[in-house]
Amino acid sequence: MRSLIDIVDFSVEELYGLMDTASDIIAHPERYADACRGKKIATLFFEPSTRTRLSFEAAMLELGGSVIGFSEANSSSAAKGESVADTAKVISCYADIIAMRHPRDGAPFVAAQNASIPVINAGDGGHCHPTQTLADLFTIYREKGRLNDLTVGFCGDLKYGRTVHSLIAALARYTGIRLVLISPKELKLPENIKTEVIAKHGMEYVETSDLEGAMPALDILYMTRIQGERFADKDEFLRLRDTYILTPEKLVTAKQELAILHPLPRVNEISVKVDDDPRACYFKQVSNGKYMRMALILKLLDEAKRNPTRVPLICEDGAKIIRNRMRCSNSRCISMVEQELDQVFKLTEPEKRICRCIYCETKETATEEDLK
Ligand code: CP
Repeated sequence: MRSLIDIVDFSVEELYGLMDTASDIIAHPERYADACRGKKIATLFFEPSTRTRLSFEAAMLELGGSVIGFSEANSSSAAKGESVADTAKVISCYADIIAMRHPRDGAPFVAAQNASIPVINAGDGGHCHPTQTLADLFTIYREKGRLNDLTVGFCGDLKYGRTVHSLIAALARYTGIRLVLISPKELKLPENIKTEVIAKHGMEYVETSDLEGAMPALDILYMTRIQGERFADKDEFLRLRDTYILTPEKLVTAKQELAILHPLPRVNEISVKVDDDPRACYFKQVSNGKYMRMALILKLLDEAKRNPTRVPLICEDGAKIIRNRMRCSNSRCISMVEQELDQVFKLTEPEKRICRCIYCETKETATEEDLK
């Protein structure tokens, strides 16, 4: 049995397989109308959502299955203090697959370690959002006919935008991707993504704050919302929230074949006047997301049927595991609040004693004592 916690849990070949299935569902929806008859998805949303939750629910209904779940933490027993681990064990008694969104980085990972059914990460804190990446990749593939040799501009909140982090991790596995990272200096892409994803894969990138200057080179423009809910300093959010507003005037120098994506919701970073531009793909992206989620549900349920044993989520690459000797410094990490959760780190760079929290991937340096 497998779960989808991070986009890199799936190989490039598996992602192409999902895109093939999604294309087949679009072409022949009637063939899939009973594919999940008798199956239930539980949508456990501890944080607001329109697209992700409802597209999972629409996806399961269109596959002939049914849906249970909640749309806010306060309507679940999380409000009484129930842990993510217990929630996952309980829901495993009711449903066949879980889609979970949670404000804590790493919460779906904890759920997957405790559930006896597949868990899909539907967005965890500022960490990642792999099913949005499925929608993004499929949209790029359908619009451009390829996932390589593209100049991709990411614009807006590159610091907290989990969709940006997941899509960069996915694009790193294709060849000829050039990144243009457009943000105010306060919202630049985190250093660890630059070093461990971009540099590690030898991707070309430039950083700029100038959207209009970057525009002519772009094949894809991925606009993002400034994530007000993740700012510790609300005044900083108010100062930065209107930094980029895409208008028809700003697209004058853009390629005719540009594809404009946005994970949505948009607040004001794309003028509604852009919606009628044939280059605006963000509503197609929403539709593509539902078909990719249908393909994902089919794949994970099929794998669970063929192999119901949970795949261990740690240790599979042989890295040393350090348990309960170090603490994660990320205040948003699930390990800060989850009852009796072990603090677990993977030694990722032994020569520098650098470790990663297994829940949120925050980097910490171990002491010699920690490693004994
Ligand atoms: N793109 C996205 O995750 O939208 P929702 O927050 O509405 O699910």
